[in-house]
Amino acid sequence: MTKQKKKAPVSIGDQIELQIVGLNHQGEGVGRFHSFTIFVPDTVPNDQVIARVISLQKNYARALPEKILKPSPFRIAPFCQHYGACGGCQLQHLAYQQQLQFKQNLVADTLKRIAQIEIPVHPTIGMANPWQYRNKAQVPVGVEAGIVQAGFYEKRSHKIVNLASCPIQHSANDETVKVVRQILQEMGISIYSEANHTGFVRQIMTRTSFATGDILLVLVTNGRRFPQADNFVQHAREKIKNLTGIVQNINTKRGNTILGPEEVTLWGNHYITEKIGLLQFKVSSRSFFQVNPLQTEKLYAKTKEYAALTGQETVFDLYCGIGTIALYLAAQAAKVIGVEIVEAAVKDARENAKLNHINNAEFHTGAAEAVVPKLLQQGYRADVVVVDPPRKGCDKTLLKTITIMQPKRIVYVSCNPATLARDLKYLNENGYKALEAQPVDMFPQTSHVETVVLMSRVEN
Ligand SMILES: C[S@@+](CC[C@H](N)C(=O)[O-])C[C@H]1O[C@@H](n2cnc3c(N)ncnc32)[C@H](O)[C@@H]1O
Repeated sequence: MTKQKKKAPVSIGDQIELQIVGLNHQGEGVGRFHSFTIFVPDTVPNDQVIARVISLQKNYARALPEKILKPSPFRIAPFCQHYGACGGCQLQHLAYQQQLQFKQNLVADTLKRIAQIEIPVHPTIGMANPWQYRNKAQVPVGVEAGIVQAGFYEKRSHKIVNLASCPIQHSANDETVKVVRQILQEMGISIYSEANHTGFVRQIMTRTSFATGDILLVLVTNGRRFPQADNFVQHAREKIKNLTGIVQNINTKRGNTILGPEEVTLWGNHYITEKIGLLQFKVSSRSFFQVNPLQTEKLYAKTKEYAALTGQETVFDLYCGIGTIALYLAAQAAKVIGVEIVEAAVKDARENAKLNHINNAEFHTGAAEAVVPKLLQQGYRADVVVVDPPRKGCDKTLLKTITIMQPKRIVYVSCNPATLARDLKYLNENGYKALEAQPVDMFPQTSHVETVVLMSRVEN
């Protein structure tokens, strides 16, 4: 007998009424229409809405809200004038307590759904003031009717819209972008056109230290020759208070990659100095650094707690960036070993060890999945392994190598619950047991979720 295909209860173009009952991982409202899942952006749990179906898949549809019949008590007015158009934030219309609840639920649900892991997932550690937390701004530059624009790409287009201000940015980043845009306009410096791959200035990037106030300005340019460089430096130094360095990053490639491989320091330092806990860190333009320094300290404190060091252990910090976690744990460990793929970050990590007078840290450059098997072959062993990979999670070869190395504990720091769950499932099936998870809100107002998970080796 042929199986009858179940027909979706909606078609594209239908107008439907539904109650929003949850949020998906992108922060879009989730409702059910005759048990069929409908994603409705810009809605929050407990909204009663009328929405129009715009796309249909086998198991779900997407619909745009047309009318909020009854707003949820958790719905609030978004703070930012660019909210929605910019796309950088997804949850400004949801009260902060519910944002934290959403992140806790998302971690618990994802671990259960993808990895069949049910462990305590603690309430998300939030911020007292969940605004102005970002230490780094990175904005494309363009021209519209002769006026230099620096901001964000308009949705589904490559038109750059000027950002009046960004409430999740440190105000110094906001100000720096504005001032640089004015200088570019006044000096008539040529601006990059994505369509023609011509023009000079492509992006403005700034990093501000919350601890010292240092500001690093990085101008990404489509070419090396910068005839007005001295003049630009002079204007920027005059107008940007606390500016400590200007770097020209050269990116002549087409495409979305922001930073190119070559840099020239036009003036001052090519890094900022930031503090996490008692330690100082030099962060240069191309190195990864957590965007929210206040929450980073809470994230690392939890990592330290889960690592439960006694002073005897060798600790691996894989995907270590500028060595922050390794150095944060170094005082409680016999030895810390960091592995990181970006050479500039490893250089920062080594300098950071010196800066903090830490002598029991070593750093290796390369892909963790290539370096760690070599270290294992050379006789290295870890008692505790910390991994903090990018969104795509850990490489399978790396996970396998870790299980062969048999550390007592693994502390997994993750910015993507889906790949976290996938990797925990593998580790769970290969000698480790996940014990608990702690979400930390590193990215308030957005749907991004950071989580620390403690895993322990199962003794046979
Ligand atoms: C989420 S960041 C974590 C950095 C650091 N733990 C921190 O807290 O600042 C991930 C880091 O992994 C690095 N990375 C990406 N792929 C890698 C790989 N295959 N092997 C080693 N490092 C990698 C990135 O350059 C980045 O510095």
